[in-house]
Amino acid sequence: MKIIVTGGAGFIGSNFVFHMLDTYKDYKIVCIDALTYAGNMSTLKSVADDPNFKFYKADIADREAIYKIFETEKPDIVVNFAAESHVDRSIEDPEIFLRTNILGTAVLMDACRKYGIQRYHQVSTDEVYGDLPLDRPDLFFTEDTPIHTSSPYSSSKASADLLVLAYHRTYGLPVSISRCSNNYGPYHFPEKLIPLMIINALHDKPLPVYGEGINVRDWLYVEDHCRAIDLIIHKGKVGEVYNVGGHNEMRNIDIVKLICKELNKPESLITYVTDRKGHDMRYAIDPTKIHNELGWLPETKFADGIKKTIAWYLENREWWEEIISGEYKNYYDRMYKDR
Ligand code: NAD
Ligand code: DAU
Repeated sequence: MKIIVTGGAGFIGSNFVFHMLDTYKDYKIVCIDALTYAGNMSTLKSVADDPNFKFYKADIADREAIYKIFETEKPDIVVNFAAESHVDRSIEDPEIFLRTNILGTAVLMDACRKYGIQRYHQVSTDEVYGDLPLDRPDLFFTEDTPIHTSSPYSSSKASADLLVLAYHRTYGLPVSISRCSNNYGPYHFPEKLIPLMIINALHDKPLPVYGEGINVRDWLYVEDHCRAIDLIIHKGKVGEVYNVGGHNEMRNIDIVKLICKELNKPESLITYVTDRKGHDMRYAIDPTKIHNELGWLPETKFADGIKKTIAWYLENREWWEEIISGEYKNYYDRMYKDR
């Protein structure tokens, strides 16, 4: 079995590459990644010499490059993680989100049609459902919840999902889609809430909480997401959408306070800053379908996962120190200075 994993030098894609190489000793994993600001070869260091692993630096929206790779590799399955993934960057400048997330998805699926595959899997997000009100804890996103996006990022992901379902109906492409809640764990890029707060706290820098910090996210340890995708590509039904989440809703402010506690840092570092434009209030996944059909359940409790994650950032300083000493500094100033 040969699987093309796009975006494998990013956060979830790399964790998926590790999971698959560990789990299936006879599978070939071919990673395609453009190595944007979010992709990092040092993330893939541990598998670089694995004979079952191969890497191509390429943009998924570059039709010629993608067709060439498919022609050479002839994959059985394609799992598309490659995306522009940060909501704040999409608010600053949406264009690249449209190119990578929408056009890139179409190019990959065209390559699948041209060269033939068993399965094209699209890694999507719960953000395509928009948000839920804070005062209705009884409401959850199911696979039937209407698409109702808020940001350029989520709109680009929703557009891609619609294209994926259209390619299934129109061309009979064997597709599946997973829509997961917020992930956390090793190799999470420092711009995202949890790593940003860990790294700032370690430097005794202000911890910038948007608005009042009462927005709720439904956190899942990254390895649990990777196991869900593994199950879907092997046993999930073609043409179906699967929601992935572990009923672990937390307010942002409570996460930040927990990080302060774990690192023995004062809560006085917490600074409330101007809210994100169009900020989604609450995400909450109903994972009944993937549980009933595929037997998936999350394995890592948040209390353990956050400890493991903090320990990883403490033990892998060189990985994130290199990132935050580069172009990231400009991003951080643009986003947080005078906010
Ligand atoms: P990330 O930003 O950490 O990594 C994205 C990777 O894609 C990087 O390695 C980057 O170099 C690569 N990439 C970007 N543009 C590319 C292009 N044009 N061609 C080839 N490679 C390109 O993202 P992530 O957090 O790992 O998210 C992976 C996927 O999972 C995304 O599709 C995202 O929408 C989805 N998702 C993320 C979360 C989350 O909490 N992080 C939750 C649900 C779904
Ligand atoms: O739900 C899945 C989505 O989760 C994925 O599709 C996205 O790719 C991923 O980035 C993530 O989106 P969020 O916008 O929820 O994640 P982020 O880490 O950017 O923010 C989490 C919450 O924390 C959100 O309510 C905004 C808030 N926040 C974030 C940052 C970076 C802050 O309060 N301060 C910050 O500095």
